Amino acid sequence: MRIAMIGGGYVGLVSGACFAEFGTEVVIVEADHDKLAALKAGSIPIYEPGLDKIVSTNVTAGRLSFTDALASAIDDVDAVFIAVGTPTRRGDGHADLTYVYEATRQIARHARKNLLVVTKSTVPVGTGREVARILREERPDLSFGVASNPEFLREGNAIGDFMRPDRVIIGIDDTAADGGAQARA
Ligand SMILES: NC(=O)c1ccc[n+]([C@@H]2O[C@H](COP(=O)([O-])OP(=O)(O)OC[C@H]3O[C@@H](n4cnc5c(N)ncnc54)[C@H](O)[C@@H]3O)[C@@H](O)[C@H]2O)c1
Repeated sequence: MRIAMIGGGYVGLVSGACFAEFGTEVVIVEADHDKLAALKAGSIPIYEPGLDKIVSTNVTAGRLSFTDALASAIDDVDAVFIAVGTPTRRGDGHADLTYVYEATRQIARHARKNLLVVTKSTVPVGTGREVARILREERPDLSFGVASNPEFLREGNAIGDFMRPDRVIIGIDDTAADGGAQARA
């Protein structure tokens, strides 16, 4: 399986590296050039015990890579995860979804086939519907599955939280997005 992770911050980097450790091919798309340069040079911009080893092992094995080229990153993947920031909006305190919707538009514009889009960012109820609406609006010629798979990792314990989670939440509203789980259940 091959996936693209949009956003190489705390959640994108930890989940991307751990997915690779599980055997998935992962390309992490990071828009910040300094962060991307650091990641490509093998330097880990966050403090997370054990992450440097997982990253270097999987980069060496060819399962994990970093890029700013979203178009080619999503070219040949089974799913695209959105793990961009959702900072608290000034004034009303709500999550600012600008980065999530911008990443959604970028995925739609560059998609060359039907894709499964999974939000990993922490987002309010209704975001999945809006992500699906943007995808449909931008690319009526394609069909997108949309799923929600929020991350609950705690900084400093993120690898353990990802590898041995006490819960995994997956939200879908169509069978195309569930990878066959309903059919197997
Ligand atoms: N940090 C945590 O402990 C934690 C835990 C659980 C959930 N979350 C949630 O996960 C999400 C991500 O959090 P984070 O801490 O990883 O954020 P972050 O700000 O550390 O990382 C987000 C990254 O996405 C990149 N980015 C933004 N738009 C992009 C685009 N269009 N293409 C490529 N890269 C892009 C940014 O440059 C940044 O490096 C948030 O919704 C957050 O609330 C965070």
